[in-house]
Amino acid sequence: MQILGISGSLRGCSFNSALLRAAGSVLPAGVGFREWSGLAEVPAYNEDIPVTPASVVTLKSALAEADAVLFATPEYNASVPGALKNALDWASRPFHANPLRGKPVAVVGASQGVFGALWAQAELRRVLQTIGAQVDDRELVVARAQDAFDERGSLRDPALEASLHAIVCGLVNARCRRAA
Ligand code: FNR
Repeated sequence: MQILGISGSLRGCSFNSALLRAAGSVLPAGVGFREWSGLAEVPAYNEDIPVTPASVVTLKSALAEADAVLFATPEYNASVPGALKNALDWASRPFHANPLRGKPVAVVGASQGVFGALWAQAELRRVLQTIGAQVDDRELVVARAQDAFDERGSLRDPALEASLHAIVCGLVNARCRRAA
């Protein structure tokens, strides 16, 4: 069982990418985790482009190969960062054969303010539902992200770490139900 992690941030010191790494360290036995890091290469979506760009082919393959996907999104102006939304627009076409259809997905988020990217998480769940993914409605709100991680990259708050573990386990269980 393989989980793909996708961070909505391109920032080198991104707290959302740190949150994905924290998720990778609370995996149940037998579950692998890898992060997709091609977000910066995805061009702006344009229906006139006749050939699927290589970066999008790579993204769609990574999504298709994954058993489940965990998204960690920042909030930009109360919504999902444009780069992440753009990549999902590419991934969603052709709609009936898109690699997120029926795929178990979950969304978590971190911000340096007090709301922990709550609105962006809600918007991203709505986008993923529209694309046809099987969306876990649990949320993980990491507020004041600049203080949330210890020097090893783990979440300092045991309750947050337990919630992150539960979300990862939820993806595993959803995948098992889908396969049964
Ligand atoms: C932000 N940030 C932000 N935070 C928030 O809680 N609500 C918001 O609407 C916004 N809007 C926003 C817009 C833009 C353009 C930027 C660059 C930033 C702050 C944001 O949450 C913070 O920079 C996070 O640290 C970004 O996530 P990463 O890069 O650390 O993962």
